[in-house]
Amino acid sequence: MKITISVIKADIGSIGGHIKPSESLLETVTDYISEYGKGFLKDFYISFTGDDIAILMTHTLGKGNEKIHKLAWEAFKAGTLVAKNQGLYGAGQDLLKDSFSGNIKGMGPAVAEIETEERPNEPFLFFAADKTEPGAYNLPLYLGFTDPMYCAGLLLSPDMTKGFKFTIMDVAHTKGDKIIHLNSPEDIYDIAALLRDNDRFVVESIYSRNSGEQAAAVSTTRLHNIAGKYTGKDDPVMLIRVQKNFPATGEILGPYSIGHLVGGFMRGSHTGPLMPVKLNSTISYFDGPPVVSCAAFCVHNGKLTEPVDAFDHPYWDFVRDKVSQKAYDIRRQGFSGPAMLPYSELEYGGIVEILKRLEKKFKVRK
Ligand code: F6R
Ligand code: MG
Ligand code: MG
Repeated sequence: MKITISVIKADIGSIGGHIKPSESLLETVTDYISEYGKGFLKDFYISFTGDDIAILMTHTLGKGNEKIHKLAWEAFKAGTLVAKNQGLYGAGQDLLKDSFSGNIKGMGPAVAEIETEERPNEPFLFFAADKTEPGAYNLPLYLGFTDPMYCAGLLLSPDMTKGFKFTIMDVAHTKGDKIIHLNSPEDIYDIAALLRDNDRFVVESIYSRNSGEQAAAVSTTRLHNIAGKYTGKDDPVMLIRVQKNFPATGEILGPYSIGHLVGGFMRGSHTGPLMPVKLNSTISYFDGPPVVSCAAFCVHNGKLTEPVDAFDHPYWDFVRDKVSQKAYDIRRQGFSGPAMLPYSELEYGGIVEILKRLEKKFKVRK
């Protein structure tokens, strides 16, 4: 059976700043999808990570389908009304356009979709990150799909010996999707040269070169490209099919042990380590640290199992302690050097104003 897994997420308001959507908001989105998705959704699952609500849906309508995208858009609009009535912070903030125009891409919410002929056993992972940008997944994807130091399957499994095809997007290009296809293992230096730059080049999708099937889909939305100004970090979602022709679940999860430094954190303007957290986690220290959650599923005839929380295990408590230490260490240097993002990535114009004012006071010594 050919099914599509679509995940669409947005920040439409949260309690106490950028911490967590309210229960009524989650209920409203859930009820909307359950009521209006009847007849064409095979299944769905609603969750939150920090202040973002994600709608995961299975159906047979294919990628970029208007009905699916409109359903999510309208659910977020219904949620926004509740958020406004409750006085939630940032109510409706990711809905950047007034009316729906066929595809939710480019309207604010983040989208990741995979269409596939269902395997008899179809395990997949759904990742959601908050207080960071789509490029936060670059390093874990590179290590999980190209590096035998992390992905033992590249050495041990004959199903993966041909490697993977990466589609990478230049998200600085705003007039259309500017993409490049590169193959691992032969292009890994080129892939690395692009993926080191998290705010410019972002993995959009990955395909198995053994079977031609899609392994991964990442949301590439950059809100500031849509709004013309910074309106919040993009808080990306990602789908990854695992096992057989693809890396094993543990090979995909492994790189999140690093707690690598990413852009985001307080006011979307700092550098912080990405912490793997449990499902439905909130945000705290310095409006962060940047977090990522992972729900593991199997799907059969479009029907989802219950989610398993992939980062809810004693091993990840140990990792979280290490990542907390890393967050504490970088925060000790406040605004200095790499602790705060460069001008081009700051969410606020305040520093530019300060510099303009000071420029007038500077004098060149005679
Ligand atoms: C992401 C997030 C941050 C904020 C940023 C701006 O979920 O919450 O990136 O968008 O801190 O916040 P405000 O609008 O409160 O200035
Ligand atoms: Mg937010
Ligand atoms: Mg968010």
